[in-house]
Amino acid sequence: MDSSLTGITTTGTPHLGNYVGAIRPAIELSKKYKSYLFLADYHSLIKVNDPNLIKESSLKIASTWLACGLDTSNTLFYRQSKVPQILELNWILSCLASKGLLNRAHAYKAAVDSNKDNNNDDDYGISHGLFSYPVLMSADILMFNPKYVPVGKDQKQHLEITRDIADKFNKTYKNFFQLPEPIIDESLELLIGTDGRKMSKSYNNSIDLFASEKVLQKSINKIKTDSKEPGEKKGTNDSIIFQYFNHFCNENEIKSVERDFEDGIGWGDAKKKLFMKINEEISPLRNKYNELMDNPRLVEETLEDGEEKARKEALENLNQIKEKIGI
Ligand code: TRP
Repeated sequence: MDSSLTGITTTGTPHLGNYVGAIRPAIELSKKYKSYLFLADYHSLIKVNDPNLIKESSLKIASTWLACGLDTSNTLFYRQSKVPQILELNWILSCLASKGLLNRAHAYKAAVDSNKDNNNDDDYGISHGLFSYPVLMSADILMFNPKYVPVGKDQKQHLEITRDIADKFNKTYKNFFQLPEPIIDESLELLIGTDGRKMSKSYNNSIDLFASEKVLQKSINKIKTDSKEPGEKKGTNDSIIFQYFNHFCNENEIKSVERDFEDGIGWGDAKKKLFMKINEEISPLRNKYNELMDNPRLVEETLEDGEEKARKEALENLNQIKEKIGI
């Protein structure tokens, strides 16, 4: 059976856009392939130095995925930091990754460009971790030799770097790695923020996935609309409200929303309906999430179970890799 692997950085609290754009599709995909899903907690150190935030965010993110229906009987679910073989592989791959390749990585280049713009030294504030981020990501992936890696568009270059490093290994030593293919769902329209820009915490236009019903309703009320009165026909193409409906309705339901818009539903009523529709899907997941957050032991045990299996597979692969390189 082909396998698929993806990682999630443990910074922040998941929002509705993460659910629609990453969590929901990844869980669907995990029903088709043997899957590896992990919390990239060592990656998050590049951005966050607050130990409590890292810890809390790992628990929140693990609980979120479990609450959203991740089936751990066909998915290995683990924390990167609990599979030390990844860090060993990281070093091996570092010695194959050319520095020039890493110089061209977007995140690093953007940091250098911003330093230039601000008349700072090129290297100002840039950690070696940021520079070598793509190598650790390659180790995450190649440790388990998956065929597919579902990621967002912004990660495409990291996958190219991973393939490059894997190819270099195969040519330098003996063929071992399959070149992993990114799965980037270009057709997957992202859920935009309540003001119409990209959904992001920093724009204050995001909706926490597991906000209480009251807060969810409030956030939906904040979604921008035009100033058409009740009774006036509403356009669907340029409506943020309609886009939200589109992400949560099946074909029949969306036809009925189209009729409502045609018939001039008032924005207040449309927002009430939208809240009910989203809440209908999220409410059982929210209950499960709250249950897990109250029982962190359960989450811990599930992760430990996945980690034990992940370490076993990782060790087998690492031993073969070490043999090939003469260590
Ligand atoms: N860099 C990814 C992101 O920011 C997270 C990640 C870390 C990842 N390691 C990975 C994704 C390995 C896929 C495979 O979204």
